[in-house]
Amino acid sequence: MCGIVGVVGREAAAPRLLEALRRLEYRGYDSAGIATLVNGHVERRRAEGKLVNLANVLDAQPLEGTTGIGHTRWATHGAPTERNAHPHGTARVSVVHNGIIENFAELRAELEAEGIEFETETDTEAVAKLLDFLLSQGDTPEQAVSKTLKKIHGAFGLAMVFAGHPRKLIAARQGSPLAVGFGDGEMFIGSDALALAPMTRRIAYMEEGDWAVLDDHSAKFFDAEDRPVERAVKLTALSGAAVGKGNYRHFMEKELHEHPVVLGDTLRQYIDPASRAVALPALPFDPVAVPKISFSACGSAFIATQVARYWFEQVARLPVDTDVASELRYRDPPLPEGGAALLVSQSGETADTLAALRLLKSRGQHVLSVVNVPESTMDRESDGTLLTVAGPEIGVASTKAFTAQLAVLASLALGFGRARGTLTAAEEARLTAALLEVPAHAAELLEQGLGDMMEIAREVAAARDVLFLGRGSLYPIALEGALKLKELSYIHAEGYAAGEMKHGPIALIDASVPVIALCPSGPLFEKTASNLQEAAARGGRIMAFTDAEGAPALRRFAERVVVLPSVDPFVAPILHAIPVQLLAYHVAVLKGTDVDQPRNLAKAVTVE
Ligand code: F6R
Repeated sequence: MCGIVGVVGREAAAPRLLEALRRLEYRGYDSAGIATLVNGHVERRRAEGKLVNLANVLDAQPLEGTTGIGHTRWATHGAPTERNAHPHGTARVSVVHNGIIENFAELRAELEAEGIEFETETDTEAVAKLLDFLLSQGDTPEQAVSKTLKKIHGAFGLAMVFAGHPRKLIAARQGSPLAVGFGDGEMFIGSDALALAPMTRRIAYMEEGDWAVLDDHSAKFFDAEDRPVERAVKLTALSGAAVGKGNYRHFMEKELHEHPVVLGDTLRQYIDPASRAVALPALPFDPVAVPKISFSACGSAFIATQVARYWFEQVARLPVDTDVASELRYRDPPLPEGGAALLVSQSGETADTLAALRLLKSRGQHVLSVVNVPESTMDRESDGTLLTVAGPEIGVASTKAFTAQLAVLASLALGFGRARGTLTAAEEARLTAALLEVPAHAAELLEQGLGDMMEIAREVAAARDVLFLGRGSLYPIALEGALKLKELSYIHAEGYAAGEMKHGPIALIDASVPVIALCPSGPLFEKTASNLQEAAARGGRIMAFTDAEGAPALRRFAERVVVLPSVDPFVAPILHAIPVQLLAYHVAVLKGTDVDQPRNLAKAVTVE
């Protein structure tokens, strides 16, 4: 899973490829590389690790040429070394690849039987060597690509350049998105339109099975059967402006502080502040007629759907199923014809969620997606999209996009409740008012600083294991707290439903395991507090996030209590998500880990 980019241009290619790769680094940062055509020959530079290492290599050994391809890698096959870094190829051809070639071992064996030698552990090299073999037999680049595409299985976005063809670039898409950019006397290819935004806003998206031959002024598209096809050129709304950190130390810190604005902007899309009524766009299904709603997503986005389950059940009285996208297809759930499916994704490119989307569509479901990136593959393939207005999220661990997802899902649940008659206008007005106050409470929380937060962060940074507990809609936030902490600080953490702790995890409780409790006042307060006391009675050190009403009771046994603004229990999960993200951030800073680009992760996981 990786980012790929290519250019047939008029200016030096390497700096432009590098700039485009910067905008794709969210897809992986295990290694990076660029190949260009210099006097008809393929030349490349590669470096292990982040893009800055490749930039240093290029400073030391600049690369000429106006046509080239680039890659930023999230390792799937083969260690993240320079040897395994893309582009891969030979003197005849150079290839960058996003995805997985499932039959690479068979292809490699066939080619090795022909006496062809391999240098890397990657699946991609099989494509490069197959192309090289066909070219050596006299095939043109087009013939070699057409034959190769028929032999490879799996998911791929490919970009290829060929020695002796300085104005040609061939790209192919199956399962991994690719955008073709149309410039003025130059052409581009990229994993997404954002990468190309500084160079052009005129974009054609390749469709499944497509391959395209680019020269400096046009692209010829072919389908999987090599039939010429047309692909519409659209003007993307994406901006080429670079996203900076401002005065913050990390993107994550900046993004945490964007919560109030993002929540406000997102809620304004779906709630009319004057009438305090939910104002949803047309949906691809009728909220009154649907018998149930099937949610699916990955990671934090999946956790957002788990919160949404409480909301939809409570206010819309609608049965909800939610599944991690990578598992959905293996459950084979019975789905009503014309049923409603809701997928959630920041990037809109997550391969597992995309596969779930396609499966749900093929099973007759009407798919609505909540995505943060307009024009992403999920946006384009869904029957309807509700956008989160979080802006670009650069920190790999999701923060503002997660709370924005919650804001959309809460608004949607209220809209469903209203449409289904399970929520009165007065209740709707009360809950929308509570939602509309969340941005101000988020600002209050971020501005006032959070009392014991830094002490808790120090305790957590010194721990090996941490337990997060919550009940009801705060239970998924406990999961989110644990996920964030794991990702950012590499500390083992578990999220548990507070009431479930006594059925097992209580055995872990001792003074070395901090217990982070999410315990706002509300109907579940007493029960949660009792569960926490059970832990405290066994030597557990309770660090609680609560509000002014809950604080006195918790102070009786909790070691530390952080008081958040008091809010309606309906919106408490949104507000509590912020301190658990902040906690993970502070712990990561204390531990000195790479906050914005934690090891082994990528912002958009485009392999299944
Ligand atoms: C966690 C995180 C990931 C993503 C997940 C889904 O901090 O960022 O768990 O939530 O990979 O990504 P999207 O939302 O882009 O589908």
